[in-house]
Amino acid sequence: MFMYIFLFYWYFISSEYVLSKSSNSDCLNSFSSSACKQLTNIDFSRTSSLIFNNASFTKLSNYSDNFGHLLKLAPAAVLKPGKAKDIVKLIQFVYRYNSKLKNRKTKIFVACRGNGHATNDQNLLNKTGIIIDMSGLSSILHINTNKLWIDVEAGILWLQILKATLKLNPPLSPRSWTDVLTLSVGGTLSNVGISGQASRFGPQISNVLELDVITGTGRFITCSPTSNSALFYAVLGGLGQFGIIVRARIPLRIAPLKTRTYTAVYSDIQSFTSDQIMFLNDPKKLFDYVEGSINVSSNPFTFTIELAKYYDNPSTLPTNSYLASISHFNTDSLTDVDSTYFDFLNRVQATVDYLISIGVWDFPHPWLDLWLPASNITKFYNSAVASSNPVLINGPVLLYPIPTDLINSKTSLAFPSDPSNVIFLFDMLRTASPDPTLIAAAEADNLRVKTAAIGLGGKGLFNIAYTKGEWIQQYGSKYARLSKYKKRYDPLGILTPNQHIFD
Ligand SMILES: Cc1cc2nc3c(=O)[nH]c(=O)nc-3n(C[C@H](O)[C@H](O)[C@H](O)COP(=O)(O)OP(=O)(O)OC[C@H]3O[C@@H](n4cnc5c(N)ncnc54)[C@H](O)[C@@H]3O)c2cc1C
Ligand SMILES: *[C@@H]1O[C@H](CO)[C@@H](O)[C@H](O)[C@H]1NC(C)=O
Ligand SMILES: *[C@@H]1O[C@H](CO)[C@@H](O)[C@H](O)[C@H]1NC(C)=O
Ligand SMILES: *[C@@H]1O[C@H](CO)[C@@H](O)[C@H](O)[C@H]1NC(C)=O
Ligand SMILES: *[C@@H]1O[C@H](CO)[C@@H](O)[C@H](O)[C@H]1NC(C)=O
Ligand SMILES: *[C@@H]1O[C@H](CO)[C@@H](O)[C@H](O)[C@H]1NC(C)=O
Repeated sequence: MFMYIFLFYWYFISSEYVLSKSSNSDCLNSFSSSACKQLTNIDFSRTSSLIFNNASFTKLSNYSDNFGHLLKLAPAAVLKPGKAKDIVKLIQFVYRYNSKLKNRKTKIFVACRGNGHATNDQNLLNKTGIIIDMSGLSSILHINTNKLWIDVEAGILWLQILKATLKLNPPLSPRSWTDVLTLSVGGTLSNVGISGQASRFGPQISNVLELDVITGTGRFITCSPTSNSALFYAVLGGLGQFGIIVRARIPLRIAPLKTRTYTAVYSDIQSFTSDQIMFLNDPKKLFDYVEGSINVSSNPFTFTIELAKYYDNPSTLPTNSYLASISHFNTDSLTDVDSTYFDFLNRVQATVDYLISIGVWDFPHPWLDLWLPASNITKFYNSAVASSNPVLINGPVLLYPIPTDLINSKTSLAFPSDPSNVIFLFDMLRTASPDPTLIAAAEADNLRVKTAAIGLGGKGLFNIAYTKGEWIQQYGSKYARLSKYKKRYDPLGILTPNQHIFD
């Protein structure tokens, strides 16, 4: 009996020993022994874990790839934080360690992963880097039903927020949305967060009341438009450059019950975009939502407007004959569909499920996302889009206007200006078969379209991979201010290095 207990005890001790020894030696795959000693001594809370990549750099394959599937980078380690203060501890260590470095090659970098939807290397790092997996920080902290806001941890998905707020009485929801609801709050607020909802509420970065941010020196700072406002606006649309968003306070509205979605087809770009702008600027706000897309399966391409009206009572809805009388679409093509507000917001999920079921959702996505000034949209379409090869697109092409006066210009977002105060979002959401020749052709096509857009006053949107020179052009007069904030909030250049904005 004693013998058994002894054996069990011995086994327990030795396996513990093997475990800790193996994780320490995995640390040595990437870092110096002094870095490893300090890293493994950080007293993270019990709900957090720091996992090192193994010798073949295949253990953290979930963090080596993203929705783009265009490149793979194997990180040194991943922190799965259970508490925001563990991110503070990690960044404070990295900051201290890097500040004493003599050899820049051993510098440690950090980047967050929201839900992995970026398509270039924004949320990836090589073996000098530690990824913070924000998915564990995804709680709803508080809902204030009087003041109409929700406090959430930044790893939460918008879908989870919607489900929770719609259950309240009365049902509530955030104001601004993206078309796909499985994006994280931190990821979209670091980019822009946009869909046809922006026609009334602006993008998600214009719909935030307060943030908790951990800077590149490991300081935990609460910020808002009235307190630490420089950091607040720097982080919004800041592409992960100035701090890690760990909590966000999002304004809510009373949710409508139902939605009627109207679609109609146009055969020319001019009437399509001018109708979109008419509905956007309509003083009576006939529609709550204006989007649109280009159908590259028809020859020549056609255009589909998508308009949505929220309602509790159907008598407030515009009739089809009224719409036909004020629009330029092909009257026969008008359709309308009623759905719950939830099903409307989540409607793209059915397409995603279908793409998963036919096995192409995990194909490479050489996406292109741009802003164009409204006054050059026809020129852009005719010179760069109309003759595109549909085989290289193989996915939706979105084109819709948003008003610039609903984009808070104090944020870090770069966007064009236009005398009409309207700009267009243009996305080529390509799917490529996993064939290097096709991917290279799609990327070359992206370069062609992007170059045309920049020549017409356009700017890159999310998912862009730019060189430093292109970033300077992208930000224009904002670049100097952002460089100043980079030096203030992330002086050692630790955060999200693969954007290469301030190299
Ligand atoms: C299917 C699909 C649909 C999309 N639809 C839309 C849309 O309708 N509207 C729209 O605006 N965008 C859309 N996007 C684009 C865009 O990629 C995402 O808005 C953004 O990348 C957020 O995704 P994510 O939460 O998975 O973050 P990730 O892609 O993981 O991260 C994006 C960037 O933000 C940084 N980051 C992540 N979390 C934080 C944080 N807490 N603090 C600081 N930095 C952070 C990352 O390091 C990375 O640089 C879509 C993307 C996909 C794949
Ligand atoms: C690393 O981990 C992966 C996935 O768990 C495993 O397949 C691989 O064999 C491991 N490599 C080494 C060298 O341990
Ligand atoms: C990696 O991703 C797969 C698929 O999403 C998931 O099932 C698995 O649990 C993940 N592994 C780790 C270590 O997170
Ligand atoms: C696009 O055009 C093709 C060819 O005219 C048509 O078959 C298809 O239904 C259209 N797609 C959409 C989404 O309207
Ligand atoms: C439209 O494009 C022309 C170049 O053809 C450019 O000079 C002009 O500034 C652009 N307009 C806007 C609003 O950017
Ligand atoms: C790893 O990534 C960092 C940050 O982008 C970069 O400075 C470094 O050169 C990269 N190292 C290698 C070997 O690619």
